[in-house]
Amino acid sequence: MFLEIPTAAMAHPTLLVTLRCLTLLCILSIAMGADNNSTVSGPIHLDCGASSPTATDADNRTWHSDNSSNFAPSLKGVAATASYQDPALPSTVPYMTARIFTSNYTYSFPVSPGRLFVRLYFYPSTYGNYAPANAYFGVTASNLVLLDNFNASQTALAANIASFVREYSVNVTSGNLDVTFSPSTQQNGSYAFVNGIEIVPTPDLFTTPTPTLTNGGNPDPFPINPTTGFQTMHRLNVGGQFISPQGDVDFYRSWDDDTPYINDAGYGVAFGKDRNVTITYTPSVPNYTAPVDVYATARSMGPNAQINLNSNLTWTLPVDAGFYYLLRFHFCEIQYPITKVNQRSFFIYINNQTAQRQMDVIAWSNGIGRTVYMDYAILTIGSGQMDLWVALHPDLSTRPEYYDAILNGLEVFKLQNYGNNSLAGLNPPLLQSPVEPNGTPGGGNSKGSAAPAIGGAVGGFAVLLIACIGVCIICRRKKKVAKESDKSDDGRWTPLTDYSKSQSNTSGKTATSRSHTSTLPSNLCRHFSFGEIQAATNNFDQAFLLGKGGFGNVYLGEIDSGTKVAIKRGNPMSEQGVHEFQTEIEMLSKLRHRHLVSLIGYCEDMNEMILVYDYMAHGTLREHLYNTKNPPLSWKQRLGICIGAAQGLHYLHTGAKQTIIHRDVKTTNILLDEKWIAKVSDFGLSKTGPNVDNTHVSTVVKGSFGYLDPEYFRRQQLTEKSDVYSFGVVLFEVLSARPALSPSLPKEQVSLADWALHCQKKGMLGQIIDPYLQGKIAPQCFMKFAETAVKCVADHSIDRPSMGDVLWNLEFALQLQESAENSSSLTEGTSSNTSPLTVPSIHSDEPLTDTITTTSTTMSIAGRSITSTESDGLTPSSVFSQLMNPGGR
Ligand SMILES: *[C@@H]1O[C@H](CO)[C@@H](O)[C@H](O)[C@H]1NC(C)=O
Ligand SMILES: *[C@@H]1O[C@H](CO)[C@@H](O)[C@H](O)[C@H]1NC(C)=O
Repeated sequence: MFLEIPTAAMAHPTLLVTLRCLTLLCILSIAMGADNNSTVSGPIHLDCGASSPTATDADNRTWHSDNSSNFAPSLKGVAATASYQDPALPSTVPYMTARIFTSNYTYSFPVSPGRLFVRLYFYPSTYGNYAPANAYFGVTASNLVLLDNFNASQTALAANIASFVREYSVNVTSGNLDVTFSPSTQQNGSYAFVNGIEIVPTPDLFTTPTPTLTNGGNPDPFPINPTTGFQTMHRLNVGGQFISPQGDVDFYRSWDDDTPYINDAGYGVAFGKDRNVTITYTPSVPNYTAPVDVYATARSMGPNAQINLNSNLTWTLPVDAGFYYLLRFHFCEIQYPITKVNQRSFFIYINNQTAQRQMDVIAWSNGIGRTVYMDYAILTIGSGQMDLWVALHPDLSTRPEYYDAILNGLEVFKLQNYGNNSLAGLNPPLLQSPVEPNGTPGGGNSKGSAAPAIGGAVGGFAVLLIACIGVCIICRRKKKVAKESDKSDDGRWTPLTDYSKSQSNTSGKTATSRSHTSTLPSNLCRHFSFGEIQAATNNFDQAFLLGKGGFGNVYLGEIDSGTKVAIKRGNPMSEQGVHEFQTEIEMLSKLRHRHLVSLIGYCEDMNEMILVYDYMAHGTLREHLYNTKNPPLSWKQRLGICIGAAQGLHYLHTGAKQTIIHRDVKTTNILLDEKWIAKVSDFGLSKTGPNVDNTHVSTVVKGSFGYLDPEYFRRQQLTEKSDVYSFGVVLFEVLSARPALSPSLPKEQVSLADWALHCQKKGMLGQIIDPYLQGKIAPQCFMKFAETAVKCVADHSIDRPSMGDVLWNLEFALQLQESAENSSSLTEGTSSNTSPLTVPSIHSDEPLTDTITTTSTTMSIAGRSITSTESDGLTPSSVFSQLMNPGGR
């Protein structure tokens, strides 16, 4: 009997991880009294159908083949390798091989009694003669039905993913776990398959505290039977990034980014902990409850108290109807000034019913940085798929200081149905199989014909491209950017499917997006024919020309009889072309945000590189600042635009699974729609940064002069702080209405960033203000804005704020402007209402996130709403009334 513990532990990169792992396993084996040496007490990773005895996956776990494994007595079935490797697979191990069963088969794991995660890995693909559509099967774990008449291919198609993991938690009482695969008898020619089985022992994670049943607004305790089987439906790192199994060393769980589940993706503010806050686990929340990262990031409703009062922060989570669910909400207050009871209090609604009133994280956790989780249960009625609604809303009944809500993590578990001992849901409705690269639906095994045809055409294009580059270099605009030497940037026109590999194979996502654009569903990214594009632009009529850029021309077009779009036609002479075309599709088809320009679709017929975007009626921000006939923008309009652009960039840096660095932030890449909403555009130069903090993407310098981060230039290392620098230049441009570079001015004034810093040091920053704005900016607002911009263009990236901090400060600046405008109009009537704002000095060393103390009007600051400071008449109705702090500050 092999024990996998040492191998698995040593495969981890750091000693710390190893120690944590071993400690936990020790605790577990003691807890489970693993005295029987024929049982396995560590994790098991079974690589089904694998030919080599052991293999390591992208998360550094070692997998053992089921061939001649002790867990696979008298093994039946066919060992098979997938004929197509989807670029979206998170790892080839264990996904590329499968065990195929045409009759029932049982794997048998001798495990110590107790709770286990059982994870089934599925990559529905063609295995030899076995087509994915025909695999209908059931799976049981001892007596518990996990899956019934299940079709993995249908499941993956409906979710638009290539592969997925089903995670269950079962309580084994007998000392043996039998996992049985049974081809469905309801469908002819059915077979069963599985790519990998992972078993991880855990303590009891589910029964304490007793959840509250959300029951038409009448909460009841809902004790959970310790033998209950669970299926994990969702595990979200709310306001944070994807955490791979490697980042959750206790039980190899993965935690997803929550943004895809938010009802309005532009809503809510994601933030991380303040630097001087330490995450502290408590006796009722052991370390293994969730990784530090889950508690160290959160989402709140947003900066505006009034908006928060009129809306809910809502997630909709697909689940199977007809089951009880356990919802675990992870909370931790992580930013000052929230340290006391009754600063933030909110409702938790589940499926439009009140699950919790007066949720006050500090009251439950006893302080900033301390962790707490709350469990609720709910019954869903019906059958088939449905959405579970989870919503937060400020609860004003105790008059909290901030009208806001917070959430750090959310887990949703399905409880077994005791009537039929089952966790199985129905298959999603049948969708048509996508066309795989071989051109045949459903995925055949010959990858052959079409790909080389594309390759050939592309090759010819590349020759043309290279021939043109020599000519182009002379006439190209003066941008002195070195040609990038990255592996995917060799000017070859690789099919999009291959390109996407580079960014998806390193993470161990539970479910990875299927990223070949040719199979992207139309709601994500649409494929236009060249004919459609010609019709939309009247065959690229010069009258429809909106602008010209490095990439090519941009035309106004009309599609679907009346929808205006911007059509960007790649110039085949463009050196930037091919790679950027792919990057842009790659990035934009995955990113949806109110402050990012939406890509509607693309056309790659006949070697064209055409992108179709939402039409931005008001054009670029620069067109409204200088060298223009457009009327000047008001200061508040400018602030609003800067805040919108900052939200877009903040989302790029923190909202997606991986940090995305824009690399070309400038006023011509900030576009304005008909409602003056700012949208960040032009992702052609974007880079996906590594997941880890404090690292950088090493690369050859690209970007636009005047906006280039000097540190990036010196060290050729790209971090998201390079975008912060460029954004600082944008802020100065907005303030001064002059270009980032003005070569005709005296030498010291040529670079706007240098000139602004020079003026700031001399205490004469007021000089650079756009004459149109003179006297129109409230002094406190100007101080805050200028302080923010100055910090953004700090020489060293470490001294620059994060985009989140920038956003926070700009929102604050807007509040200062508004409250100054309000009080100046009020002073005529009430003299007592002059604004008692504490204005931080521009030379202050305080961290940018520090907050202003008080104001006499209702205002709010980035996710923290500040209400009036009245301290009268608190209703002591709350259970926490004795803990309340009526002063509220
Ligand atoms: C909750 O309310 C929303 C909006 O009224 C509705 O669309 C949704 O279906 C409701 N959800 C449930 C589970 O009842
Ligand atoms: C928030 O959700 C709750 C529960 O569904 C609902 O009663 C309430 O009307 C919603 N509030 C707003 C402002 O949408």
